[in-house]
Amino acid sequence: MKKLIAYLLVISMFAGNFAKADEGMWIPSLLKNYNYEQMKAKGLKLTAEQLYDVNHNSLKDAIVWFNGGCTGEIISGEGLVLTNHHCGYDAIASLSTKEDNILDNGFWAKNKGEERAKPGMWVSIVQRIEDVSDRIIPMLAGVEEKNRPDSLQKLYKKIIAETTKGTHYEAQVREMFKGNAYYLFVFEKFTDIRLVGTPPQSVGKFGGDPDNWMWPRHTGDFSMFRIYASKDNKPAAYSTNNIPYKPKHHLPVSMKGIKPGDYAMIMGFPGRTNRYEFSQGIELAVEKVNPTIVKLRAIRLQAWKEVMDKSVSDRLLLSADYASVANYWKYFIGQTEQLKRLKVVEYKKDLELDFYKFALQNKDYANVLPNIEKAYNAYKPYALQRTYLSEGILGVTANAAASSFYPYVKASKENKDKDQIEKALKAAIASTEDAYGSFFASADEKILAQILEQYYNDIPEDQHPSFMNKIMRSKGKTTLEKCQNFAQKLYSKSIFGSKEKMADFCKNPSYKKLSADPCYEMVEAFYDNYLNNYKPKVDAFVAAIAPESRAYVKGLQLLYPNKTFYPDANSSLRLTYGTVQGYDPKDAIHYDYYTTLDGVIEKYDPTNFEFQVPQKLLTLHKFKDYGDYKMDNGQMPVAFITNNDITGGNSGSPVIDGEGNLIGLAFDGNWEAMSGDIVFDEKFKRTINVDIRYVLFLIDKLGEAKHIVDEMTLVRSK
Ligand code: ARG
Repeated sequence: MKKLIAYLLVISMFAGNFAKADEGMWIPSLLKNYNYEQMKAKGLKLTAEQLYDVNHNSLKDAIVWFNGGCTGEIISGEGLVLTNHHCGYDAIASLSTKEDNILDNGFWAKNKGEERAKPGMWVSIVQRIEDVSDRIIPMLAGVEEKNRPDSLQKLYKKIIAETTKGTHYEAQVREMFKGNAYYLFVFEKFTDIRLVGTPPQSVGKFGGDPDNWMWPRHTGDFSMFRIYASKDNKPAAYSTNNIPYKPKHHLPVSMKGIKPGDYAMIMGFPGRTNRYEFSQGIELAVEKVNPTIVKLRAIRLQAWKEVMDKSVSDRLLLSADYASVANYWKYFIGQTEQLKRLKVVEYKKDLELDFYKFALQNKDYANVLPNIEKAYNAYKPYALQRTYLSEGILGVTANAAASSFYPYVKASKENKDKDQIEKALKAAIASTEDAYGSFFASADEKILAQILEQYYNDIPEDQHPSFMNKIMRSKGKTTLEKCQNFAQKLYSKSIFGSKEKMADFCKNPSYKKLSADPCYEMVEAFYDNYLNNYKPKVDAFVAAIAPESRAYVKGLQLLYPNKTFYPDANSSLRLTYGTVQGYDPKDAIHYDYYTTLDGVIEKYDPTNFEFQVPQKLLTLHKFKDYGDYKMDNGQMPVAFITNNDITGGNSGSPVIDGEGNLIGLAFDGNWEAMSGDIVFDEKFKRTINVDIRYVLFLIDKLGEAKHIVDEMTLVRSK
C-alpha cells in the first residue's frame, strides 16, 4: 500500500510537471528575473547571462531578424546563416530561371565566389533591449485616445533619434501588453546577404500545401545565406570588397540527437498573436472574417495555379506569391476549425465572467466589458469592408498597382508641392515594377470578375460604391457574367491591363491619364467608398477597443497576481522554452515526436508535384547512405516536435538544447492547435522542427557540399 501511495505521488508530480503549460514568448532581457529558475528545472545548463547579455557575447548575438518576416541563426564564425526554405523562397525563386533552375534543382556554392547576392535582403541583430515605459506612459497622461497613435509615433521618433545618434545602429520601440509597457530594441542591420545554398524544393517544400500546418511532417525546410560586412566588420552596401561577417557568437551544432523530455528553447521574432482577444472578436473571426479571407484567397490561388501548371518559367515567376497566399489561406481554414473545436469562445467567455466579477469590486474596470460589447455591436455590420479591401479589391494585381498611384493623383489634384508629388509618383512606379514582374493579365482579369461578384453578394447593397451600378449595367444574365464582361473591357482598355502599357505609362506618367483610366477609376471608387464611409468606422472601433484592451490586460494581472504574464508577439525578439514531446491528436491516436526518411519515401508520389523526391535522395535512402548523421537505430531523422510557443515570424528560428547547441530549426505549427495565436492549448500546441542532422545530411550527401558542414562547430556525444 505504501508503495502504491508513493507511486501515485510520483505520477501526480510528474503529471503536474507536464501539465504546466510551456506557454509564453518571453522578452530575453527579463528572463533572469522571471523564468530562469523554471528553465533550469527543465534542463537548461547555461547561465542567464549566456542567454542574454549586453556587455558580453550571448546567445542573442547569433539570432537574426531575417528580412522582417522570419528568423535565422548564425552557425559559423564566417557569418553563415541558417533559415527556412520558405523564408529564402522568394530569393531562391527570383534567382532561378528555366535554364538555371535552382528552385527545382537546388544549389550549393562551391566557394564564396559562387554565393549569389540578392539585392533588397537584410538581417538585423539585436544589440540591446530596454524598458522605456517610463519615457512614454507619463507623457501620454491626458492625451485623448484618438490622438494617442500620433503622440506615440512622436515619442518613438524622439527616443529612436536619441538612441541611434552618432551610431550606425537602428532602433524600434514596441508596445507591450496592449499599451501597458514599451520596450526599445537596438539593432545592427546588414544588407549584403548572399545565398549559399538550398535543397531542391522537392525537399525544402516536400509535402507542399497538403502537408502545410500539419504533423507528421517530412519537409527539409531550410536554406542558407551569408552575411557580408565591410573590412571593419560593420554593415555595408553590397560590394565585392566586403568580407564574411565575424559574429560575436555562433551556435554550435549538436550531433547528439534528441529524445522526449529533452529541454528545448527557441529564440526568434514571432510576428503577431492575439492572446488577449475578447470573445466577440473570436466570434466575428469565426463567423465572418475568416471564411471571407479563405474564399477570396481561393479565387487567386485557382487562377494562378492554371497559369503555373502550363509553363515552368511562369511557375517560377508566380511560385513565391502563390506559396505566401496559400500559406495563410490554409491558416485561416485551420484557425476557424480549431477555434470551434476547442470551444475558444466559451473559454474566453468564462475568463470574461471572472473579469466581470473582479470588476464588480474594482470600479476602474467596470466599463471594460460593456464598452467592448458596444464597440463590437457598432462595428460588426461593417467588418467585412476592410477584409474586402485588402483581400479582395487590392488582391487583384492591377488594382493594387492602381491604388499605389492614389497618393500621387490626390497630391496632383490638390496642387501639393512638386517634391511631394514627385515622391508619391516615384513610390508608385517602384511598387508597380515589383508587381508587374509576375503579372498575368488573363488570370488577373478572372480574379477581378470573381472578386467583384463576391463583393456584390456579400456586402450589403447600401454599402456598395455607386460605381457598382456601372458594373451591373454590363452585359450578362448572371452577376458573374456581368462582372466578367466588365472585367474584360477593363483589361483591354486600361493602362494597368498589360505589362507593356504599364511600362509605357511609367516612362511618361500623368495624373490626367490615370484619372481617365477605367481601372484607376474603379479602384478610386472602391477606395473612396472605404476611406470616406468605412475607415472612420474602423478607426472609431480601434479607438474604442484600445483603452479597454489596455485596461483588460492590466486588470487580468491584478486578478491573477500569481501568474507571470507575457506580452503578445509583435515581431520583437522573444524566447520560449519547453521540451521535446509527442501528442495525442484524437482519442486512441498517438503521434510520435519524430519522423524519418522512411516516411518521406512512404509519401513519395511521382504523379504529384507536391510529393516528389529527387532520384539521388531515393538512392541514398536505398543504400542507407546516411554517414554520421543517422540515429542510433540506423534511421535518418527528418523532423521533430516540441511544445514551444511560437508563431509566424519564428520560421527559421533555432531550436537550442540546454547547453546552447543547435538541434533543429522551427518551421511550422500543427493543425490541432491552429487556434494557437489566440489561445495556447497545452494539450495540442506543438512546434514542428527540422532535425539539424537531416540538414547536415542534405548538405553533405545530397548537395555534396561537405565544406559547408566543415565550416560549422559540430558537437558530438562524449
Ligand atoms: N506554415 C509555414 C509557416 O507559416 C510555412 C510553410 C510553407 N509551405 C507551404 N506549403 N506554403 O511558417
